[in-house]
Amino acid sequence: MKKIGVLGAGTMGGGIAHTAARAGFEVTVFDTQPSQVEKAIAAIHARLDRQAQQGRLAAAEVEAIMSRLHRAPSLDAFADVDVAIEAVLELMDVKRAAFSELDERLPAHAMLATNTSSLSITALAQATGRPDRVVGLHFFNPAPVMQLIEVVRGEDTSERTVEEAMALARELGKEPVLVRKDTPGFIVNRMLMPLFIEAIRILEEGIASRDDIDKAVKLGLNHPMGPLTLADLTGLDVDLNVMDYLFDEMKDARFAAPLTLRRLVRAGRLGRKTGRGFYDYQD
Ligand SMILES: NC(=O)c1ccc[n+]([C@@H]2O[C@H](COP(=O)([O-])OP(=O)(O)OC[C@H]3O[C@@H](n4cnc5c(N)ncnc54)[C@H](O)[C@@H]3O)[C@@H](O)[C@H]2O)c1
Repeated sequence: MKKIGVLGAGTMGGGIAHTAARAGFEVTVFDTQPSQVEKAIAAIHARLDRQAQQGRLAAAEVEAIMSRLHRAPSLDAFADVDVAIEAVLELMDVKRAAFSELDERLPAHAMLATNTSSLSITALAQATGRPDRVVGLHFFNPAPVMQLIEVVRGEDTSERTVEEAMALARELGKEPVLVRKDTPGFIVNRMLMPLFIEAIRILEEGIASRDDIDKAVKLGLNHPMGPLTLADLTGLDVDLNVMDYLFDEMKDARFAAPLTLRRLVRAGRLGRKTGRGFYDYQD
């Protein structure tokens, strides 16, 4: 695989494009809002320049990476890519429409990957005529930094596609893990949401202060940051959506969102984005 098309140039699409160009792939980026592509490419350039100033990257390498990034005026520019990585909004209808359009334009051999955090790979694959070539490639934020990629097998994903996706993740400089069954939350979010939920419940029950809950997890479990800080960083609205989705799909109380979280989100205290959340929580 030499050429990668990235669909969606938001937080994740921009980070994935950066990662792929740095790993030596030719990368074509398309977004329905062209200004997003400009913003993403400018942000990549700024990050690379910063690394060059710090002596972590040669100036020639910055130019080489930038020369591998291409703006797509339309989806027709994906006609010669070997793999498309979709990173558009986390909405089934939007993603299915995007997959159907990609399927019409991509060459027959191409693989279709989705960066969805939660949606069913199998349901997305059914919007295409090549469900065997559809796979989950779940990157973590920030994509150029985080080492993990969850490779998710849909019901119809072929063995060949899984093997190619695992190999691609390694070529991107990442460490893949294989999620053998298409299940909500895959591995990481399925474990992370109950951790967030218990941290919030311990706070609600007055068992420990916000800072002590985070400190306990940092020092006792060796996590780089505590769960309440991480929940703020991810965005409390995003966390609540993921919990509600897991609960709806599995009808399991382990994933029932605490009321405190729902209250904060209703009040527009969404964590990092708004500067309010568990940061300034008063118990
Ligand atoms: N943000 C995270 O921490 C994170 C982590 C892992 C996975 N994800 C997943 O990655 C995906 C993208 O998330 P994000 O945070 O980058 O979102 P974002 O809102 O920052 O970016 C989404 C981009 O998609 C574009 N877009 C919407 N519809 C499109 C279409 N039909 N064709 C092309 N572009 C389109 C939008 O203009 C926007 O630029 C979601 O599925 C999300 O669940 C996010």
